[in-house]
Amino acid sequence: MAEETSAVPTMDPMDRPAESAAPVGAVIHPPAISTLSLGQLMVSDVSAWLRIWKPKRSPDQPPTAGEIWHFWWNYCGLRATWIYRVSHAISRKRIPVLPGIFSRMNLVLHGFDMPASVPVGPGMYVPHPVGITVMANRIGENVTLVGAITIGMRHKPIFPTIGNNVFIGVGARVLGNIRIGDGASIGANAVVLTDVPPGATAVGIPAKIKLPQSTAAKSEESGLLENA
Ligand SMILES: CC(C)(COP(=O)(O)OP(=O)(O)OC[C@H]1O[C@@H](n2cnc3c(N)ncnc32)[C@H](O)[C@@H]1OP(=O)(O)O)[C@@H](O)C(=O)NCCC(=O)NCCS
Repeated sequence: MAEETSAVPTMDPMDRPAESAAPVGAVIHPPAISTLSLGQLMVSDVSAWLRIWKPKRSPDQPPTAGEIWHFWWNYCGLRATWIYRVSHAISRKRIPVLPGIFSRMNLVLHGFDMPASVPVGPGMYVPHPVGITVMANRIGENVTLVGAITIGMRHKPIFPTIGNNVFIGVGARVLGNIRIGDGASIGANAVVLTDVPPGATAVGIPAKIKLPQSTAAKSEESGLLENA
């Protein structure tokens, strides 16, 4: 009996798709990454702007209508994020053609190449959408994509997985079957080809990993113990 195949890539424990799971070009309906409605996701994106620009404001306080208007009117990054949100929501409803129209519109208006199929958690902050090209398994919550960034394949069409609270600086390239851990930072113009542990910083070409101080101290301690 022929084995049943699925168009949705199966995930390994690192959330990486199995290499042969989906044929190239297959239509993959995006998996749910958040239970929030489209409106809630759009508001969460405004909250991300408020986190940066009004850090003293309580993060639990929802944005006012005036604040929403302010960020929408003044910043193309928020407008680009919202067009992506709409395209993704339509795509999840399996409505054909429209998601592609929204994505193309975003590319023409803002140079923001984020396909509708990429699942992104709430609170995405994109200050400068121009030149951002993203193809990723998923992008977590509260992620910052500064500008002119590429997230995509290296040799084969297998894509990175971006955790929560990740910062990706201007001009960075994040390539291949890699995972960027929660709270990691990717420096401006870095070319990241390996996993980045949670909380670590990756800088340079190819990127070198600088562990967070607490982890670095622990590894040093265990190294000392091993060598004792
Ligand atoms: C990666 C980044 C977030 C690190 O910030 P940080 O945690 O404060 O780290 P530091 O600035 O203390 O730098 C730590 C080390 O990495 C180096 N470094 C930092 N950013 C770097 C970069 N983009 N490329 C190469 N090396 C870098 C520093 O020289 C330092 O090296 P050292 O330990 O040998 O002295 C920050 O430097 C960065 O690149 N931000 C991008 C900002 C951006 O995109 N701005 C555009 C606005 S429009």
